[in-house]
Amino acid sequence: MTTESPAAPRTRVLVLFGGRSSEHAVSCVTAAGVLEAIDRSRYEVVPVGIAKSGQWSLVSADPSAWSLRADVLPEVTATEHAVVMGTSADGGAGQELLVAAPGSVPESLGGVDVVLPLLHGPFGEDGTLQGMLEMADMRYVGAGVLASAVGMDKHFMKVVFAAAGLEVGPYAVVTDRQWRTDAEGALHRATALGFPLFVKPARAGSSMGISRVEDTAALRTAIEAARAFDPKVVIEAGIEGREIEVAVLQGRGLDAPRTSLPGEIAMQPGDHAWYDFDAKYVDGAAAELTCPADLPSDVIDRVRQLAGEAFEAIGGEGLSRVDFFYTPDGRLVINEINTMPGFTPISMYPQMWAKSGLGYTELIDELIGLALERGTGLR
Ligand SMILES: Nc1ncnc2c1ncn2[C@@H]1O[C@H](COP(=O)(O)OP(=O)(O)O)[C@@H](O)[C@H]1O
Ligand SMILES: [Mg+2]
Repeated sequence: MTTESPAAPRTRVLVLFGGRSSEHAVSCVTAAGVLEAIDRSRYEVVPVGIAKSGQWSLVSADPSAWSLRADVLPEVTATEHAVVMGTSADGGAGQELLVAAPGSVPESLGGVDVVLPLLHGPFGEDGTLQGMLEMADMRYVGAGVLASAVGMDKHFMKVVFAAAGLEVGPYAVVTDRQWRTDAEGALHRATALGFPLFVKPARAGSSMGISRVEDTAALRTAIEAARAFDPKVVIEAGIEGREIEVAVLQGRGLDAPRTSLPGEIAMQPGDHAWYDFDAKYVDGAAAELTCPADLPSDVIDRVRQLAGEAFEAIGGEGLSRVDFFYTPDGRLVINEINTMPGFTPISMYPQMWAKSGLGYTELIDELIGLALERGTGLR
C-alpha cells in the first residue's frame, strides 16, 4: 500500500502502443503487461493506441483488452476519440495533443508529463515518433531521435559499432538502386561472404523478413523477401556462436549506463534452426531463455562492458538490449542493439533486470524517472 497522501498529484503518463509497423501486436501485448504492472497510485495512465492505419485514439486502459488470448493477436482499432496534434482553441503554447470526438471542439489532453512509447519498429522505434515528440516539447521514455534511427538500421548501427571498436561480423548492404541497376553485382558481393548467409531488411524487427540462406539459388528470393519490408537489405555471414544478450539502463544523473547480468537464448532441437518469428512468439518451446547465462566471470564482465559501450556508441538513452554472438574461439561479435526491446513481463529485457535485482514495476518507474529527469531538446 502507498503511504502517499491522496492529494499528491500523480504523474500523468501517456502510454502509447500499437503502431504502423509489423510488430503492432507485440506492442499491444507489451502494453497489457505495462498497464497491469504500472503503479497507479503514482501514475495516472492516459492510454493511447495507434491503429495500423496510423490513426491515434484514446483506448481502454484495461490490460485484458490487449493481452494475447488463445491465438488471437490483439489489435488497436480507431475509436471515436481521436488523438491529434494541433493548437488548442484556448491558444495554449505550441503544438499539443488534442482529443477530437465527433461533434465537439477538440480538447487539450493537457498536462501529460511524459510519454511511454511502447512501440517497436518503423514509426515508433526509429526516431520518427521521437522527432514528433521533440517538436511538441513532450518528454518521453527511451532513446532520442538519432539513437533511435541508428538503432533501427542494421546497416548504420554496424558502421557506428565498428567505429567505436566493437567487433561486427562480415556483411554487405544492397540498396534499392543497387538491386535495381546491378542485381548480379549485389549477388556477387553477397556470395563472397560465404554460406550460410542471413538476409535481412535493414529496418524491421521480430525476425520479420529475415531468411537464412544456404546457397546462391535461394539468395535472390531471400533478398526479394527482405525488400518487402525495406528497400535496403543487409546480408550477413552466418556467425557460429551462442546468443548472449545484455540489458542496459541509462544511469541517473551523470552515472554510467547500468548493465544487467547477461542472458542466453538457446534454440531447442526441433524445427527452428535460428531465432525466427515463430520461435520468438508462437512456439513457446522453441527457444530457452536463461539468465544469467552460464559463462565464465571474465566473459560476463566483458560482455557487460561491451554492451555499455554499444549503448554509448549510438548515444543511447533510457534503455536498450544489446545482442551478441559468443563464438567458440571466445570472441564477442555484436549482432544488434534494440532501443525498444521486447518489454512484456516475460521478455528478455525485463527478465534480465529481474534476475539482476530490479523488478518489472520498479523498472517502469525507473524509466519514467529517467525521462522526467532529462527534459526535451538537445542534451
Ligand atoms: N549473422 C548471423 N549469424 C547467425 N545467426 C544470425 C545472424 N543474424 C541473425 N541471426 C539469427 O537470426 C535472429 C534474428 O536476427 P536479428 O538480426 O536479431 O533480427 P531482429 O532485429 O529481427 O531480432 C538472431 O536472433 C539469430 O538467431
Ligand atoms: Mg534480434
